[in-house]
Amino acid sequence: MNIYIETYGCQMNVADSELVRSILKSVKLSVVEDIADADVIIFNTCSVRQHAEDRVLGRINNEMSRKRNKKNLKIGVIGCMAQRLDKKLNEMNSNIDFVVGVDQYKKLPEIITDLFDEDDFKCNTLVDDKEIYKDIYPIHTGKFNAFVTIMRGCNNFCSYCIVPYTRGRERSRLTADIINEITKIGEKGFNDVTLLGQNVNSYNYKNVNFAELLRRVNKIDSIKRIRFVTSHPKDLSDEVIQVMAESEKVCEHLHLAMQSGDDEILAKMNRGYTSQHFLNITKKLRKAMPNIAITTDIIAGFPGETDEQFQKTYDLMKKIQFDYAFTFKYSPRTGTKAAEFIDHLPEEIRLARLQKLIELQQDITTLKYKEQIGKIKEIYVEQVSKKSDKEMAGKSRDFKITVFPGDRSLIGKFVKVKITDAVGWTLKGELIN
Ligand code: 5AD
Ligand code: SF4
Repeated sequence: MNIYIETYGCQMNVADSELVRSILKSVKLSVVEDIADADVIIFNTCSVRQHAEDRVLGRINNEMSRKRNKKNLKIGVIGCMAQRLDKKLNEMNSNIDFVVGVDQYKKLPEIITDLFDEDDFKCNTLVDDKEIYKDIYPIHTGKFNAFVTIMRGCNNFCSYCIVPYTRGRERSRLTADIINEITKIGEKGFNDVTLLGQNVNSYNYKNVNFAELLRRVNKIDSIKRIRFVTSHPKDLSDEVIQVMAESEKVCEHLHLAMQSGDDEILAKMNRGYTSQHFLNITKKLRKAMPNIAITTDIIAGFPGETDEQFQKTYDLMKKIQFDYAFTFKYSPRTGTKAAEFIDHLPEEIRLARLQKLIELQQDITTLKYKEQIGKIKEIYVEQVSKKSDKEMAGKSRDFKITVFPGDRSLIGKFVKVKITDAVGWTLKGELIN
């Protein structure tokens, strides 16, 4: 039986799809790369905004003609939408044959096999706050970078966010399992790992906190670069900042979601920090690592946000100068606290504010790239440039795509490149020996 997996949403979903691949392959179910070969299509889904859900529902609708032509084709939904919408997914679209929640992936082979025996809708979305998928070694699908899940779930309950409801309570994986997995990954030739969790800074397993985990990962010989997402500003300790600065493999790159620059809105979001605290952390990070790239997430038009409050977000973004910002307009999620607030803003206001943030950040990002001209950067060469086969492309430690003249033999290697230009959001440079 051939299974095709289509993944939406965050890196955690990418990692979960790799886990699911491993679970399926362990019972000899084959995972295929071409949807045309599939007997089963699995959609691994995201619920973080309504738009993300609408997109997947649209995609599933698109596949209905394939289902009509291939009578026995089955369609399943896993991930956050499966957890959130459960059986309702089958009411919304009766062509969905199975729904499996984020803690039940080990049941997938059984559910899929059963489907071909008796053709009725299957659903298992039981919450298991202890499930960490111990002993399942994911099949990493990237070429140079591998995602390693270090914890699952979230306890923060930011008032806008559906994740604590879909992914359940926080739980950390065993330190030894993480270290073993990363060692193996390195031996397979991945030089770059990204540690994953909804809030990696609260990693805790038997007195090993996140700072200590980073120290230990830094000692693994077989890897060369370490990144991690996502960090929560309220939990990013001085100790972690220090370990980042001291550990040669930890890249000068941090994603730190600010969400808003206004203290009242931050409190309504239940974020647990003030704008001053956030600003202080960015200062500490830049003092410890002058070359660090800081990226962020911002929500525009949270319920009740006034023009003045929005302006504070705008001003703080301008002051901090992020390397990049993922900006979103607020999307109400049923079941969250914020969805119950009575002061939701009209779509036009949310959209207009979002547009302002996008324009602001475009200018800042362009400037940040221009600032790199003249610097010498270490590039992990990943592929031939899309524009010319005489040029190679790779990423710097601060996660900027860099293109330079060179040949294929450099792919998979680390080289030093002097930056000569910034074209849009790509750096151009030349190899130095
Ligand atoms: N509406 C808009 N953006 C949201 N995010 C999370 N929930 C919502 C929502 N309801 C954004 C946050 C988070 C990122 C992953 O998605 O900025 O950091
Ligand atoms: Fe959502 Fe907040 Fe948890 Fe991030 S930390 S997943 S925004 S509740």
